[in-house]
Order: sequence, then structure tokens, then C-alpha cells
Amino acid sequence: MKKAALITGATGGIGLELAKLFAKREVPLILVARNADRLHRIARYFQDEFHVSVLTVAQDLSVGGAAETVYEAVHSAGWEVEYLVNNAGFGDWSRFVESDWKKQSDMIGLNILALTGLCRFFGQDMRARKSGRILNVASVAAFLPGPYMSVYYASKAYVRSFSIALAEELKHDDVTVTVLCPGPTSTGFEKAANLDHGSPMFKSMKAASPRNCAIYAYHAMMCGQTVACHTLPSNLIRIGVHFATAKFAAKQSAKVNGIPKEPKRRVRRR
Ligand SMILES: NC(=O)c1ccc[n+]([C@@H]2O[C@H](COP(=O)([O-])OP(=O)(O)OC[C@H]3O[C@@H](n4cnc5c(N)ncnc54)[C@H](OP(=O)(O)O)[C@@H]3O)[C@@H](O)[C@H]2O)c1
Repeated sequence: MKKAALITGATGGIGLELAKLFAKREVPLILVARNADRLHRIARYFQDEFHVSVLTVAQDLSVGGAAETVYEAVHSAGWEVEYLVNNAGFGDWSRFVESDWKKQSDMIGLNILALTGLCRFFGQDMRARKSGRILNVASVAAFLPGPYMSVYYASKAYVRSFSIALAEELKHDDVTVTVLCPGPTSTGFEKAANLDHGSPMFKSMKAASPRNCAIYAYHAMMCGQTVACHTLPSNLIRIGVHFATAKFAAKQSAKVNGIPKEPKRRVRRR
């Protein structure tokens, strides 16, 4: 069996940079994302540049049963996952009650359900083997409530809490769990979350490079660090929330996120 690194959302941003770090160390890759063409292009890049074996799984992880489907695909191909990187995720900048419900429920499916399912299935194998490392990508958003991105912040709070608990459960099984909490990073995230439609978030803070974020995350995972906050501002937020009420923290994150414009309402003419 090939001992591989499975990376969700490996075709762009932080996930692609993490895949490069594994490939550099000749670790076979299992790449998961939705866009099959892009997946195959990237798989070819890793095979040509790094000479590593690559298995691609084109799967929308926001749909029910996605984690089981990925697990089955990996097993039937005869691969073993030594490193599980739950990286794929997205946000949505909107007023919750007027938001696109499909987008919100897909976000819960991807950010929470798929991540949890993949930890469940591959985590069981790791525990039986007494070997494995899990990296779950949360966000600095995990530390506070986030008005106008409320579901996203709450999903990342889930990822943080779940990962810390899982790390404790698996600590005697030689399986480590690391939760990464990045701040704003220059990837496709801003556009996917509609933050480029007027949110001050990426303008008020200097975005980190996905490569630096991935290097930091990779080393934290390999050291078995449980919580890894990338960049100083993220660490200051992590510490600062202990000295503030949740209501105050929510007010501050509302300022950082910005308030989306009211949707245009139709004016009735007589
Ligand atoms: N960038 C930031 O500022 C920032 C800050 C804090 C935390 N994070 C977290 O970092 C993680 C990585 O995000 P990123 O910034 O690198 O984003 P990104 O550049 O938008 O990349 C997202 C990746 O996930 C895949 N993906 C999206 N939806 C998917 C789905 N339903 N099923 C399977 N794959 C899917 C995308 O490929 P396809 O489109 O082909 O599926 C792509 O490979 C996310 O969990 C995000 O919440 C990002």
C-alpha cells in the first residue's frame, strides 16, 4: 500500500502549496477538488516536476455522503492515508437572513460535515495502524463570532473545537491532530466569499502568502502542534478574545468584515 497525503482543495491557494511541500519530500499525493480538468492538470504537474504518484478524486465535498465516497475511492485504489489535510472550505459575506441558503448549507456540508467524516474514516485506520497525522484548516475566525459571515465563523469555531477534542482522544495512539488558524491569505478565498464586493477585510489587513502559510502549517503538523495560528495578528486575536466579551468581539469582527450593501428592493409604482 502507498502511504500518501490526502489534501482536499489541493488545486489552489493553501492546499496547492501544502501539496508541493509533500511532493518535495516524495510523498505520494491524493488530490481532491471539484474541477476535474484542473485536478488532472495539477496531477500532471506533480508527476512531471516531482516524480510522485498522484491519485485524483474529483468530488464535490459539500454533498451528503462525500466523505464516504472519497474513502471508498482511496481504498479501492489500494492507497493508505498517512497524512490527512482537510483544507477545502469557503465563506460567504452576506446578511444571513437574506443570504443564498444553498451556499450556506453547502458551506456547512464542506467546512463541517465532509471534514468530520474524513477524520472519522481515515482516523479509524490511523488509530488501528498507530500512525498518522491530521491537519484541519480552520481560521482566525474560529476564535470569535463574525457578523455578516456568521455561518463561516461558526463553522471554523466547530473545526477548532472538534480538532482539539480529537487530538486529545488520539494522543495515546500515535495520531496527531493539528488545527491551523490562518488570517487573511492571498488565495481564491476572497472572491469565493464575495469579499471583493466591498468588504474592507483584505484592505485593512496585509494578506499573507499561501506559500508561507503552508510552510508554517506543514511544520506545525509534523511537530504535532495542536493549535497553530499563522501570523502575529491572528495570535493577537487569539489572545485578545480572552479579555473581551463575545458581544464586544462580534462588534469588532463586524467592523473588519464590513456591512454588505442592502439588496435593492423593488419600488412599487402606482
Ligand atoms: N485565504 C484566506 O484568507 C483564509 C483565511 C483563513 C482560513 N482560510 C481557510 O483556508 C482553507 C483553504 O482556502 P484557500 O484560501 O486556499 O481557498 P481557495 O484558494 O479558494 O481554494 C479552495 C480549494 O478548495 C476546493 N473546493 C472548493 N469547494 C469545494 C468543494 N465543495 N468540494 C471540494 N473541493 C472544493 C477548490 O477547488 P474546486 O473549486 O475545483 O473544487 C480549491 O482547490 C479554507 O478552509 C479556508 O476557509 C483561508
